[in-house]
Amino acid sequence: MICDQLSESAADVQEHAIQWYKAGELESLFAEGDCHGITVNGHRIGLFRVDADVYALDDLCTHGNALLSDGEMDGHGIECPLHAGLFDVRDGSVMCAPLTRATRCHKVRIQDDAVYVAVPEKTGG
Ligand code: FES
Repeated sequence: MICDQLSESAADVQEHAIQWYKAGELESLFAEGDCHGITVNGHRIGLFRVDADVYALDDLCTHGNALLSDGEMDGHGIECPLHAGLFDVRDGSVMCAPLTRATRCHKVRIQDDAVYVAVPEKTGG
């Protein structure tokens, strides 16, 4: 999925070295479940819905080669589909073995029923 960029002040972008991107409309993103994978500015991001809230993590498990967006939600946990490690979608922290390393968490905004996610700017060329 190619995401539309949300305009942001130049000062904010410089300060945080992030860009906000529109991931899509809330209801269409999660029409088929509580997990959704997108590619934003070259970053693979997993979006996870818990009730009215949406969280974003890097979509690659820190234990192996598995997409978290292919996993199963368990409350605020996302279970990796390969070895059942559990990350907390609120901050990317590890909830159970075999995971030993947290994953990166991204800021999310919901505005006018659309979901926006902040991802690091590309650096260098
Ligand atoms: S690859 Fe995710 S727990 Fe092993």
